[in-house]
Amino acid sequence: MIPIIMDCDPGHDDAIALLMAFASDAFDIKGVTITGGNQTLVKTLNNARKVLSFAGKTARIAAGSDKPMLRELEVAPQVHGETGLDGPVLPESDLPVEPMHAIALMKEICDQSPEPVTLIATGPLTNVGTFLTIYPECKANIKQIAIMGGSMVGGNWTSSAEFNILVDPEAADIVFSSGIPIIMAGLDVTHKALIYEEDVERIRAIGKKVSTMVAELLDFFMKFHKSMGYHGAPLHDACAVAYLLKPEIFIGHDYYVEIETKGEFTTGSTVVDQFNRTKKKANTKVLLDLDRQAFVDLLVDLVNQYA
Ligand code: BDR
Ligand code: CA
Repeated sequence: MIPIIMDCDPGHDDAIALLMAFASDAFDIKGVTITGGNQTLVKTLNNARKVLSFAGKTARIAAGSDKPMLRELEVAPQVHGETGLDGPVLPESDLPVEPMHAIALMKEICDQSPEPVTLIATGPLTNVGTFLTIYPECKANIKQIAIMGGSMVGGNWTSSAEFNILVDPEAADIVFSSGIPIIMAGLDVTHKALIYEEDVERIRAIGKKVSTMVAELLDFFMKFHKSMGYHGAPLHDACAVAYLLKPEIFIGHDYYVEIETKGEFTTGSTVVDQFNRTKKKANTKVLLDLDRQAFVDLLVDLVNQYA
C-alpha cells in the first residue's frame, strides 16, 4: 500500500477525491491535512470531517493554514456555496482533530514512514509549501506530490491562472522548485474529466448512502458548471487520485514548470517549458489527457465500495 497524506480544502471535488482515496485498498492514508481555499479553514475542516464521518471512515486529521503564505485568502463560494460543500445535508461530525498543526502532522508521518510518502494536494499549496520550508529534511522521505492545480493553457480564475495556484503562488513556487517529483493534474486534463448527467444518474442508481451523497454533490457542482457553459462537471481533484491509482488511463508529458509570482496579468500561472528553452531538467509530469470513460468507471467502482 502507498503511504499517503491528503492535503485538501473540501470543496465538492475534494470531497469526492477523498472518498475515492479512502475506498481504494492501494492507499494507506496516514493523514488528512486541511487548508483554507474553497472556503475558510473552519469550513473546509468541518466539511472534511463531515464527509469522512458520513462515509464511516476515520483518519488523523489536522488543520493547517487559514491564509496563504503572503496574501489574503480568496475563497470560491460561487463554485462551492457558502458552506464550501453546499448540496447534501450532512450531520455534524465528532471526528477528532489532531492537537497539532497540519505541518507537524506531515512531519510526524514522514519521519515515521518506513517507505517514502506520497502527498496528494488538491487545494492551494500553502500547507505543503510551508511544510517543505520549515522541514526541508523531510523531502528525503517524500516520493512525489500529486497536485490538482495549474494549467498549460489558460486559467479558470484569471485568464492565465488556475484557482489553487493563484490563491497561493508563493507556496506553489516552493513546491514546484522543491526537487520532489510533481504530478500536475491541471486544467488541461481536468477539463476533460467531465462528469455528465448520465454519469451522475449511474452513481445515484447505486442507491446507497454514500453514492446518494456523491450524486447530490455532483448535482450542485454540475449546476454551477452548466451555468458557465461547461457540458458537464470537471471533477478536477479526483484526477490527482485517479492518476496514482490508474496511471495507464492518463497521457502526460515531463516538463520543467515554474510559477509566475509577479506577473502583471499572469500571477499564479504555471509556466511550462514545452520546448526545453530553459535547458532545465523536467520537474513535473504534466497530465494532458485521459480516458474519460475509464475515469468514470473508476469513480463508480470506488463509490460502490461504500455502504
Ligand atoms: C480547483 O479549485 C477548486 O475550486 C477545486 O476544488 C479544485 O481544486 C479547480 O481549479
Ligand atoms: Ca480543491
